[in-house]
Order: sequence, then structure tokens, then C-alpha cells
Amino acid sequence: MRFEIITIFPTFFTGIFENGVVRRALAEGLVEVGIHDLRAFTHDRHRTVDDRPFGGGEGMVLKPEPLAAALESLGIAVKNSEFTAGAKAPIVQAGVDVRAEARTLQVKPTDDGGEASIRNPHTQVILLSAQGRPFTQAMARELATLDRVVLICGRYEGVDERINNLYCDLELSIGDYVLSGGELAAAVVVDAAMRLIPGVLGNEASSEFESFGVADAEIDTDIEGVPRSQHGAGGLLDYPHFTRPAEFGGLSAPAVLLNGDHQQIRRWRREQQLRKTLANRPDLLEHAALSKEDRKLLDALQREEQ
Ligand code: ADE
Repeated sequence: MRFEIITIFPTFFTGIFENGVVRRALAEGLVEVGIHDLRAFTHDRHRTVDDRPFGGGEGMVLKPEPLAAALESLGIAVKNSEFTAGAKAPIVQAGVDVRAEARTLQVKPTDDGGEASIRNPHTQVILLSAQGRPFTQAMARELATLDRVVLICGRYEGVDERINNLYCDLELSIGDYVLSGGELAAAVVVDAAMRLIPGVLGNEASSEFESFGVADAEIDTDIEGVPRSQHGAGGLLDYPHFTRPAEFGGLSAPAVLLNGDHQQIRRWRREQQLRKTLANRPDLLEHAALSKEDRKLLDALQREEQ
């Protein structure tokens, strides 16, 4: 699997993928990351990537031409002809004019009369922006099944919307706050998706992937069979963890974790998951797959709260 990141700050990514699991996955060739400097796709002396917004207002907008050139250089064609009626320039991927190829292959016209998509379905183009759909664990799982993910880092006030219209499959936000650009968000997406690629985390991750498509709460369990965190994907938050020493800062690790009774540990962890989710992310409870026992416990916890 390969990630392509288009950015005006290529040095931002120096070092960011050189630690832990990500570094190992790159070193072992399980994943590749390409960093592409947007300014390399400009043609003026000042290497201009932005301009003032039409209609006035604060800030600058990333111009469409360098972004389109960067995408086309990666073999990314426009999605379909909906936005390009009359603009039938060749789209060259790996030396082949794929638009001409699609015509000769008699690709079925879409409902709007345009050409059907001629893009590789295993490649997704994503625009990082605060206006995007919220990024979730379920999305990370989907991205991990693709061959290639192209991430466009927005900057300034935004990106000319025609880039979104023409090239992007998804506009993605990593949270309800405004970053100064999409670079941090791109790094987050790469990290979250990469660790779900089979082999990256070692053997413990592989069984998770066999269960792909199964209700999220049924997968990703720990050794005691307790479902782990599935944030935003129909599951609960993770339970709290403890390690040695058994006493620290005047606090003891929960005795139940030290007694070796796996049934008790399983029940305790599940209750802790419910407690934490109720306290920190009650919205997740609406979609979580809960057993009868879970519901009873949750009722009791809610009564405790009142
Ligand atoms: N760019 C600015 N804010 C962002 C956010 N919250 N997520 C993704 N990209 C962004």
C-alpha cells in the first residue's frame, strides 16, 4: 500500500514516520509514503501556490492548477466528465491516455451522459479540511484495504473547490477544530490506516482482518475476549490499563487484575469500558453493540450517575 501526500511543507514530514510501528512498516516495505512538494508544480518565478479568494474575504486560497498538475503527475485522472464537459484533454496515466482508452473500451456513459469513472477503484483521493466528514476507525479500516491513498493537505483559507469537485473522492476532517493546515491531519490518517494493514502490527492484527465486515463490537478483542476500543465505529472506548508497580502515588492497581480469575477480569474490563464510554463519549452508546448483560450494567451505571 502506498500513501501519496501533496503539501506545500514537505519538510513537515521529516522524522514524523521515523518512529515505532510506522518506521518498521516502511523499513519492511509493507507501506510506502511519497511526499510531493506542491511548489514543484508551479511555473512562475515565485512558485505561487495561492491567490486571493474570489468574492473577497480574509486569507488566501490554494490555486487549482498546481494541485491538478501534482495529481495528474501521480496518474490521478478527473473523476468523470460531469465537471469537464467540453474539456477533453488527454489524461495520461503511466504513458497511456486513459480517457482515449476509456472511449475505445466503450466505457458505459454515466446517468448524466458523461463517461463512467475511469479511475482505479483501489485508489482514493482525499482532501484534508476542517469541512470534511469526520475521520473514524471504520474509515481507517477501509483505507487499509486500498492500494493507494492520495492525501491533499489544504492550507490558508482553503483549496479551490474545483479540485474537490474534479479529483477528490472524500473530504476528511480529523476533528471539530481548525488546524493551520492539513499536514498534521494527513499524518494522523497515515498512522491510523497503516497500523491496520496486515503484518504491520504482527500476528495479533491478522485475525482482526479476517473479521473485516463483521459488526465492529465483535472484533478486535483482547486476550480475555473483551472488545477493544472501536471509536466511532459502533463500539465502546477501551478499558483502563495498569502495570507494575502494584502501588503507585498512593493508588493501588485494581485487585481484580492481580487475582488471575479471567472471568472476573473480563467482567471488570467490560464494566470499565461501559463506565468510560458513558463518562467520555456517551454518543457512542447509541450505536454500540451491547449484550443483555451490558444493558443491565449500563442501566445500573446510569442510575448511579443520577
Ligand atoms: N485542516 C484544518 N483543520 C483540519 C481538520 N480538523 N481536519 C483535517 N484537515 C484540517
